[in-house]
Amino acid sequence: MERLQKVIAQAGLASRRKAEKMIVAGRVKINGVVVTELGTKVDPDKDIIEVDSQEISREKLIYIMLNKPRGYIATADDPQNRKIVFDLLKGVSERVHTVGRLDIDTEGLLLLTNDGSLTYALTHPSHEVGKVYLVSVKGKITRRALNDLARGVELEDGMTAPAQVELIKHKKDNSLIKIMIHEGRNRQVRRMMDVVGFPVLRLKRVQVGPLTLGNLRSGTYRHLTKTEINLLKKIEENVLE
Ligand code: URA
Repeated sequence: MERLQKVIAQAGLASRRKAEKMIVAGRVKINGVVVTELGTKVDPDKDIIEVDSQEISREKLIYIMLNKPRGYIATADDPQNRKIVFDLLKGVSERVHTVGRLDIDTEGLLLLTNDGSLTYALTHPSHEVGKVYLVSVKGKITRRALNDLARGVELEDGMTAPAQVELIKHKKDNSLIKIMIHEGRNRQVRRMMDVVGFPVLRLKRVQVGPLTLGNLRSGTYRHLTKTEINLLKKIEENVLE
């Protein structure tokens, strides 16, 4: 049995707090009867839950990690008819959405789920989880550029928050760095690298919160393990409670 507000939130209708308000306002029915009690427990597999007289989805919650290749876009459909990440999810019948985005040219770890509440928690601007990127840049990156990235740089939409930056290696005409950021602004890493004068050649996300890409092959996906899902749920609880 689960708390009513949690089930509504997981269906992606609202945050848990908003779901509580909906319940108190008398907008929620269980098996045809209006319930305004917040502690009410329901069986999501058996009870029929309606919000504003619309039955909420009872689809099984699924959590997928995809290693997104370059050249795929992370939207449900594309007017320009480019390849979309959902083309890579053969065998998944649930209607999942991406948790955040990766640009068309960025590769690596992309999480997909139909758990709206978790998505809300992981992408909430004030609590965004750390995301780690491997960044290959043109030229021999300087200590100064690394320090600037770590402290925060000025983008047209404001200063970036402090980041963790590590030089992995220098090669003849390029460098490989690792950067962890907590924000999720549009093309953020690419823009940060442009500002410090070392444009991105290749960008790959290798970690989101407690999840690591490991050796998942490019273009393939796997379901998260129970342990991984529980780690994400802990983050969700901290954000939403
Ligand atoms: N930063 C970028 O520039 N692109 C992404 O896809 C993610 C982070």
